[in-house]
Amino acid sequence: MPDPDSARPQDEIAYDRGRLGQWLDGDARADGVSRRGMLALLAAVPAAGLVAGTPRPAVAAPTAATAGAVVAPVSGTTVKPLPEEWFRVLGTNAETRWEALRGTGYHTPSERFFVRNHTSTPVIDAAGWRLRLWGSGLRGSPAPERAVEFSLPELRRMPAVTRSAFLECAGNGRSHYASQQGQEVSGTAWTLGAIGMARWRGVRLSEVLRRAGLTHRAVDVMPRGLDAEFVSGGENLGRVRRPLPVAKALHDVILAYEMNGEPLPYDHGYPVRVLVPSWIGISSVKWVGDIEVSATPLYSPWNTDLYRLFGAAHPEGGGPPLGRQTVKSAFELAAGARFRAGRTHLLHGRSWTGAGTIRAVEVSTDGGGSWRAARQLDVARPGGWVRWSVPWRPRRTGPAELLARAADSTGRVQPAESVHNDQGYLFDAVVRHPVTVR
Ligand code: MTE
Repeated sequence: MPDPDSARPQDEIAYDRGRLGQWLDGDARADGVSRRGMLALLAAVPAAGLVAGTPRPAVAAPTAATAGAVVAPVSGTTVKPLPEEWFRVLGTNAETRWEALRGTGYHTPSERFFVRNHTSTPVIDAAGWRLRLWGSGLRGSPAPERAVEFSLPELRRMPAVTRSAFLECAGNGRSHYASQQGQEVSGTAWTLGAIGMARWRGVRLSEVLRRAGLTHRAVDVMPRGLDAEFVSGGENLGRVRRPLPVAKALHDVILAYEMNGEPLPYDHGYPVRVLVPSWIGISSVKWVGDIEVSATPLYSPWNTDLYRLFGAAHPEGGGPPLGRQTVKSAFELAAGARFRAGRTHLLHGRSWTGAGTIRAVEVSTDGGGSWRAARQLDVARPGGWVRWSVPWRPRRTGPAELLARAADSTGRVQPAESVHNDQGYLFDAVVRHPVTVR
């Protein structure tokens, strides 16, 4: 049976072209998107050139659609503790140390799950919280103040779905552009720990959209978070929000209220977050307060200036908004882990992909000179990862490099070098993991 997931990237590209066409026809809204962002985005499609006079839209103001829940700020940027042995703190974010995943099983325990916060975790009173849906893609085109509302108990009474899916930041692995390729990139210097795998439970977004009165006119949906507005470089970009094509929204997106069998932790989106399987983490908006459903394409800074590929190797003005994640692999080891020579060690790691499933994993213990197949310990599933192991008996003492590379069912193989982009997204190259043999 053909894998429905592997057939989708082409559709998504066609969809993006279509929605840009609508924008060019003067048919789309772009609150909070800078002129640079729009110009760059337009340059990504062949029909650019019709951009003279693009107005600079105002920053999106909070509306009735974002009010309602009691939101209390916390003193740090996260509520949960970030112990040194599990996390590396990077500004407002915390990445999971890969050695902390050793022995944790298929799902990442919520306490060890990485956190990516643009600002800080809001503490929301679920009793006062409502999800509000509004916009021209719904029956009657309700304005924000006449939004269709759902409480948490109402969402919980709808048919529930449970699925395991990884959540991975688009910038995961970013630091390796500099450390392995000597290239400059901007953004949080993640190693490989901006990923986690959880069992999510919630209601399908398609179900909620249907009950809210989705019409065939809808093309985009834009969930928006209830965390504080994000100020970058002195510019207020408004609340975190990123549009999704309605085709993806109806396909497999979940409004999740549980993570690993418990209510969502505060840091991961309590009371409800969007979960967009296989797509870059920014799509999975936490603390969702409202969803605009639009008959015209929507833009926000998160699909114009951010989360697109800019740089010499990419179309002038940037590539299309990013969707799917790449293929990656990591060892469940600390950087600089030590091994005894003359003994057999079982190396463990995990590989994952945003398209299809993991097909093969190979490991090199001699810096890439020779490769052998790793033993896969999980059945490969779309949106999942595969744990693997390989025995290693080092003979010589001194520094060594361990490498793992994966191939997926759509034919993608981790390359030796990642194609550079200015913001360091989608690093997919084989990472050289330094260890010491004593
Ligand atoms: N949603 C809101 N409202 N605010 C945010 O800062 N960060 C996004 C996404 N959703 C973010 C958000 C990014 S970039 C990522 S990678 C994931 O959440 C991280 O999810 P986690 O913190 O639960 O691991």
